[in-house]
Amino acid sequence: MGLAEYRRQMTEDRGQIRNVRAIHESSEYATDMEKVNVNLGERGYTIYIGDNILFKLGELLIQFELSKKIAVISNPTVWKFYGIKIIKSLKSAGFSPVKIIIPDGEKYKNLRTVEKIYTEMLKTGIDRKGCVVALGGGVVGDIAGFVAATYMRGVKFVQVPTTLLAQMDASIGGKTGVDHKLGKNLVGAFYQPMFVLVDISTLDTLPEREFRAGLAEVIKYGVIRDSSLFKFLEENREQILNRDRDALNYIISRSCEIKARIVEQDEREETGLRSILNFGHTIGHAIEATTGYRKYLHGEAVAMGMMAEAKISDVLTDCKNRFRIAELINGYFSFKKVRNISNDISHFIGYDKKISDDEIKIFLIRNIGQAEIDSIEIKRLKKIINAEEQL
Ligand SMILES: NC(=O)c1ccc[n+]([C@@H]2O[C@H](COP(=O)([O-])OP(=O)(O)OC[C@H]3O[C@@H](n4cnc5c(N)ncnc54)[C@H](O)[C@@H]3O)[C@@H](O)[C@H]2O)c1
Repeated sequence: MGLAEYRRQMTEDRGQIRNVRAIHESSEYATDMEKVNVNLGERGYTIYIGDNILFKLGELLIQFELSKKIAVISNPTVWKFYGIKIIKSLKSAGFSPVKIIIPDGEKYKNLRTVEKIYTEMLKTGIDRKGCVVALGGGVVGDIAGFVAATYMRGVKFVQVPTTLLAQMDASIGGKTGVDHKLGKNLVGAFYQPMFVLVDISTLDTLPEREFRAGLAEVIKYGVIRDSSLFKFLEENREQILNRDRDALNYIISRSCEIKARIVEQDEREETGLRSILNFGHTIGHAIEATTGYRKYLHGEAVAMGMMAEAKISDVLTDCKNRFRIAELINGYFSFKKVRNISNDISHFIGYDKKISDDEIKIFLIRNIGQAEIDSIEIKRLKKIINAEEQL
């Protein structure tokens, strides 16, 4: 099935993603944008997805009652490509943007960086009706979101994600925060943005390895919730890897929709439903920990984690999904043979996603697109892992 057919099917079957004419029809730049709504009552918002839509930022902000001064938080890598476009868009809508640049990298995702941002915002006079725009990948988005949640007890916030991972995962759902020296993402807040502006054209400059790492999360959405998306990833590998705009539009819109529907049902990770998004992450985190967080990008570790967790699921359910999942993942990632890390993983696994001292969450994949969460004794899981020759 080709791209056009998938898009038709998606629109007909789900009726969720509407291809809309941009809100401002009269604009001389009127453009097509997909809209995915995240229905969270008064905290609900829209994810706008389109090609070359950064210039829309200013006019989308006009509808909110904001002060003129807007903090734009980014890093030097992203700013050099997209900073001017954002500033131009904000200025032409009558705002006075304040540029705040933080260093690039996860190691700066901490309270020191947050403190520096507060200082700049205070010095430049951003008030309670001000707004924070996050321009960058998941690191910038998480930090800027946390700043917005806490600056003057909370100011408005917009996500402009520029990595694939941030466009269909990190910018959606309201998890914001920073790392602590004792662990990742340990300090934070749930804080939803006013909207998310996903400009697919920003992926043109994303390094290949980062782009592929983001695809791991798209594969995850296919496995847990959508066999059509999974099939699309199987059948359109070349287009996706060539960053064909229509193909990207489809996989990003679909992924955003899946995440939105899950977040709507469990906004603050209270009912356990949201943890379905952690497929591949339990073992992925263990792989990251055993390799000192240096060898693999997060998405790469998740991709390996998904293969391992699919194997475990097959052992427990007597299904045979692991072969199709592994084939898809190997089509997008080329992992060199790693030494057998089963022992290390089984050491780390007890630290993550524990239910109790004895039990841990596990994913059961009944079919591609149908995953559920169950629990298993850690002892039994370790036995299964150790029995596998190569995880
Ligand atoms: N809040 C959430 O729900 C959530 C979910 C998943 C991950 N995260 C967090 O996201 C972070 C990882 O995000 P990430 O993978 O986007 O990494 P990242 O933000 O570090 O970006 C990766 C690299 O790409 C660069 N970059 C970004 N956009 C670019 C572009 N368009 N062109 C060229 N270079 C570009 C960045 O400067 C960086 O060097 C982690 O801190 C993780 O904890 C948060």
